[in-house]
Amino acid sequence: MKFLIINGPNLNMLGIREPELYGRQDYAALCERVRAACAARGIDCELFQSNHEGVLVDKIQAAYGVFDGIVINPAAYTHTSVAILDALKAVAIPAVEVHLTAVEQREAFRRVSYAGMACIATVTGKGFAGYEEAVEILKNYIEER
Ligand code: DQA
Repeated sequence: MKFLIINGPNLNMLGIREPELYGRQDYAALCERVRAACAARGIDCELFQSNHEGVLVDKIQAAYGVFDGIVINPAAYTHTSVAILDALKAVAIPAVEVHLTAVEQREAFRRVSYAGMACIATVTGKGFAGYEEAVEILKNYIEER
């Protein structure tokens, strides 16, 4: 089983950006944690981060026929990007949306998720552990299909 883990804009700034919200651990620490979660389940994974919407769309398109599942934190593009939603729908690879923070409890504009409309599940407000949960949900979903 092969998963693509996608992180959107400003997640490369983890540890620096709003630590009271996103924590003090950096993006490299997140990658390490996700790699360990995948390895423990016998899953191959690739991690990808970009600050650019079109680059994220290109990466999702390129996943077609290559990856069995996608874990995605589209970050701010969650709330704006029909293009990312359409890309997820186009490839039809099972995807789980993850957010470090409880987006549903923050500003009203964060309560809308376009990408989430193409995902089998959403995990919010659990920090780095949310990515582990997303990997587990995706693995179970694919195995049970
Ligand atoms: C985020 C929540 C988004 O609203 C925000 O724009 C982010 C991070 C999260 O992981 O909690 O950049 O996706």
